[in-house]
Amino acid sequence: MPGILLLGKFGQLGWELHRSLAPFGELVALDFPEIDLKDIESLDKIIHDIRPQVIVNATAYTAVDRAEDEAELAMAINSHAPRRMAELAVDLDSVFIHYSTDYVFDGTKENPYIETDTPNPLGMYGKTKLAGEMAIKEVGGAYLILRTSWVYSLRGNSFVTKVLGWAREQTSLRIVDDQISNPTWCRMLAEATAILLARAGPNPAGWIQERCGLYHLAGSGYASRMEWAQKILEYDPKPKEQIVQKIHPAQTSEFPTPARRPLFSALNCDRFSDTFGFNLPHWEDALKLAMENV
Ligand SMILES: NC(=O)c1ccc[n+]([C@@H]2O[C@H](COP(=O)([O-])OP(=O)(O)OC[C@H]3O[C@@H](n4cnc5c(N)ncnc54)[C@H](OP(=O)(O)O)[C@@H]3O)[C@@H](O)[C@H]2O)c1
Repeated sequence: MPGILLLGKFGQLGWELHRSLAPFGELVALDFPEIDLKDIESLDKIIHDIRPQVIVNATAYTAVDRAEDEAELAMAINSHAPRRMAELAVDLDSVFIHYSTDYVFDGTKENPYIETDTPNPLGMYGKTKLAGEMAIKEVGGAYLILRTSWVYSLRGNSFVTKVLGWAREQTSLRIVDDQISNPTWCRMLAEATAILLARAGPNPAGWIQERCGLYHLAGSGYASRMEWAQKILEYDPKPKEQIVQKIHPAQTSEFPTPARRPLFSALNCDRFSDTFGFNLPHWEDALKLAMENV
């Protein structure tokens, strides 16, 4: 089985990838401070020392609002570092797997975005992620860019854990109903990555090279944040702890933030399922499963 280097093992997705990729045996998983993506040379040394057959990059600068003030740092982590990873993967004849975001779109389309739709990010985070995608494409090689959306985990600070917390502290909640996308449980994304690598077999570069490119991969179906929050409360494994009685719909414009977010950024994942023969489960089914695991 291929030797895998996982970067970003402590992130939402990285934590799940660490588990999903473990059965491959030869897995080295790193995160800050063992690697610091601001220091590209350290990346060179680590990758040359390990010489992995597959590099999976779960690192990212994901602070959407802070990115407005830290554009250079966000660009270093979301674009310069992935470019170098892609170059190193080409040098080693390895596979490079990277993740991107629905925030590359401006959210003005009225049906789910496909891979050939023109990106137009509204904020720095989306701009730096788009720059990362373009850099990887420019380098080429055996790469996959999996563009995903509204990633959550039951560990740490995600929309799901926030809603569960608010429901225990407040009797009424106001949740926006004009932001719409595909909630994606990070475990499903990690499992899908593992399935791809299992299918790619012992010499993955050739198999991935034949299918290389950009794919949308997110929970099937889509919802507004309001609908998502309603389901989170419905599937809450400890509903007796909730004191919330009502959720009121709100508008994004009522909660000004430094970075603008796309309103409708649902992703159409048909290209992925047409190519690889499977898809992520419906977002509601995945949420239910995630909540059963609490
Ligand atoms: N979260 C979402 O809603 C969402 C939506 C669409 C797409 N995505 C994409 O999905 C992927 C995974 O996202 P996620 O939610 O799992 O992200 P995350 O939880 O923020 O994890 C990112 C990881 O990268 C690490 N990292 C950041 N700066 C670093 C540096 N200078 N050197 C080394 N490591 C560094 C972080 O470490 P620290 O914690 O120490 O900074 C963290 O472990 C990313 O490509 C993201 O853009 C996410």
